[in-house]
Amino acid sequence: MADDLSSFAKDVLLVKGLKSSTLVWRLVVLTLAIVCGVYIFSICLKQIGTGSKIGFLEVKVIQKPCPEPNIEPWEIPYVHYPHPKTYSRAECSCHPVRNFAILSMQRSGSGWFETFLNSHPNISSNGEIFSVKSRRSNMSTITETLDTIYNLDWFSSASKNECTAAVGLKWMLNQGLMQHHGQIAEYFRIHGVSVIFLFRRNLLRRMISVLANEYDRSARPLNGTHKSHVHSPKEAEILAKYKPTINSTLLIANLKQVNDTTTKALNYFKSTRHILVYYEDVVKNRTKLKDVQEFLRVPQIGLKSRQVKIHKGSLSNQVENWDDVSKAITGTPYESLLYEDYTR
Ligand SMILES: *[C@@H]1O[C@H](CO)[C@@H](O)[C@H](O)[C@H]1NC(C)=O
Ligand SMILES: *[C@@H]1O[C@H](CO)[C@@H](O)[C@H](O)[C@H]1NC(C)=O
Ligand SMILES: *[C@@H]1O[C@H](CO)[C@@H](O)[C@H](O)[C@H]1NC(C)=O
Ligand SMILES: *[C@@H]1O[C@H](CO)[C@@H](O)[C@H](O)[C@H]1NC(C)=O
Ligand SMILES: *[C@@H]1O[C@H](CO)[C@@H](O)[C@H](O)[C@H]1NC(C)=O
Ligand SMILES: *[C@@H]1O[C@H](CO)[C@@H](O)[C@H](O)[C@H]1NC(C)=O
Repeated sequence: MADDLSSFAKDVLLVKGLKSSTLVWRLVVLTLAIVCGVYIFSICLKQIGTGSKIGFLEVKVIQKPCPEPNIEPWEIPYVHYPHPKTYSRAECSCHPVRNFAILSMQRSGSGWFETFLNSHPNISSNGEIFSVKSRRSNMSTITETLDTIYNLDWFSSASKNECTAAVGLKWMLNQGLMQHHGQIAEYFRIHGVSVIFLFRRNLLRRMISVLANEYDRSARPLNGTHKSHVHSPKEAEILAKYKPTINSTLLIANLKQVNDTTTKALNYFKSTRHILVYYEDVVKNRTKLKDVQEFLRVPQIGLKSRQVKIHKGSLSNQVENWDDVSKAITGTPYESLLYEDYTR
């Protein structure tokens, strides 16, 4: 009991001792609390400060007062205001940009067609970008490449940079386009890309051009340089001297295959906004280019090209084994290709 009492007294004493220093402790704790509080408060203030600053900047960029473009409601998904990473669109930053892709096949006049488009000060058609295999190795590389083009960050001799009003590329059907058609059509839908199909009606003439171009690639009659397109009548004359021999056994199957491929492509991208242009129609009547400018919604001007046509005149003079060829085609659905002609 005495033990208990003494321990009780001790406890009381301890408490008393504590009590005497309580004031000091309280002051210490209070000071600490104040210091912590001030510190936390200052950090909060800083964060709020930077946060609101970022918000303010963003708001400034987004709300840059571009006037409402003078467009019809259906056009809204097709206009874009890209912010290129590498330069500023300067005085044209409020001009809407349209995305397009020329879908074509080799030797269908697409190079010629593209030089017309690029003679326009507001059109940038960046060429056959997917002729480089690594760019079309899978859908991610394709997407990355297209994103760069449509963000106006692709640099080629054709890019008009800040005042581009229509930007695109030339894309051959055999450059990953048919292979990934589903995902590409989806990309076109999401990014409001319009398609210009550029095909050639006369597939026999196209075949001759393909063979001649293959020959030129290996023989190089123009001083040892390979030229798919020429700029002088003299060069065209030299190249046209070569007359290919067409394998008449495979001819019909080849024509049918090309026809099937174009039909498929038209089908794959039929729900994409598009225009169908035939090379022959542009050759015959340049007013077809007005339709294309109208389609791209760019100001109408007279477009020019310096390219010269390589093969002219009647087909019978352009093929080495004309008799075999005409025999093979006569009586097939392709017979009319023998007679269709045009002048330029
Ligand atoms: C076309 O380009 C010219 C010259 O760069 C520019 O002044 C004009 O505003 C552009 N037009 C459009 C519709 O972007
Ligand atoms: C796509 O191709 C690129 C380059 O060939 C490669 O680096 C990448 O890993 C590929 N991506 C996929 C998802 O296959
Ligand atoms: C080929 O070279 C000759 C002499 O160098 C030149 O006169 C001619 O114009 C060249 N032709 C072509 C098609 O480049
Ligand atoms: C045409 O092609 C077939 C199949 O490749 C071949 O057997 C035939 O020899 C070729 N004919 C000519 C004249 O080259
Ligand atoms: C393909 O052939 C069909 C009939 O044979 C024809 O109606 C169509 O115009 C051809 N297409 C092309 C692109 O030549
Ligand atoms: C060219 O086509 C337009 C319509 O697209 C037509 O009005 C014009 O008469 C044609 N010109 C020639 C020379 O055929």
